[in-house]
Amino acid sequence: MKKVLVLGANGATGSLLVQQLLQKGMNVIAIVRTPNTLKQLIGAQVNLKEVEADISAISEKDLAQYLDKCDAVLSCLGHNLTLKGVFGHPKFLVTDAVEKVSRVLESINPKRKVKFILMNSTGNSNRDIPEIPPLSQRFVISILRLLLPPHVDNEKAADFLRLNISHKHSCIEWVAVRPDSLTDEGSVTHYDIFTSPTRNAIFDSAPTSRINVANFMTNLVTNEDLWHEWKGKMPVVYNHV
Ligand SMILES: NC(=O)c1ccc[n+]([C@@H]2O[C@H](COP(=O)([O-])OP(=O)(O)OC[C@H]3O[C@@H](n4cnc5c(N)ncnc54)[C@H](OP(=O)(O)O)[C@@H]3O)[C@@H](O)[C@H]2O)c1
Repeated sequence: MKKVLVLGANGATGSLLVQQLLQKGMNVIAIVRTPNTLKQLIGAQVNLKEVEADISAISEKDLAQYLDKCDAVLSCLGHNLTLKGVFGHPKFLVTDAVEKVSRVLESINPKRKVKFILMNSTGNSNRDIPEIPPLSQRFVISILRLLLPPHVDNEKAADFLRLNISHKHSCIEWVAVRPDSLTDEGSVTHYDIFTSPTRNAIFDSAPTSRINVANFMTNLVTNEDLWHEWKGKMPVVYNHV
């Protein structure tokens, strides 16, 4: 049975992700700041261990225990849309978490590759490939970089995966999943996956339902062909229209 650790597990996408991972028969360790929030959302589950901890504050020793024998780490972390969440600390919630998990994984030196699957955003470009967003998008994004710390955090988190994991962390492989405009749907629908955004993320965004993001992230854990297709990349997810 695969063992996975989920960050941001009680969030709007994270809770859907946990449910789908459990449906696929995985052992899920969910890190949540408030005890039992996930249990209240999805009910008690035999294969779910809800750990009450703040990823920013948890000691590396404790995190190492939870990461032991994990096949994958999935992050749906995101800044809460409050003044404190957007402008307060931790400013680099997602980046710090990615770096911390990577450091701890490296220290426990797992015998096999561990998958790191990060929920990111189409507002972030993949600078590994010639991906040049429209001028209007680049203009707005450059302003968001100055005004909105969470945007910079998303960019830095993916940069860490691209620039560090690929070269320095031999036990980790990664995928950064980029949804467009998040929506809530009751069930998984058809969705399309692209190497790069096909639309302007600011002025012509398309819906990507959270449940489809959760489905794609789950499939990346379970489907080795899909994993090999996308590892080291930043796939974009749009609902199929
Ligand atoms: N909105 C969009 O259209 C859109 C589009 C593309 C990508 N995204 C990205 O998608 C991601 C997730 O979206 P979502 O709607 O599923 O997010 P969400 O419902 O707001 O969930 C965020 C999660 O992060 C946790 N979190 C927030 N601040 C934290 C902190 N300081 N320390 C520890 N945990 C913290 C929350 O836990 P608590 O419940 O304890 O706060 C929650 O589990 C974000 O990174 C966002 O940038 C959004």
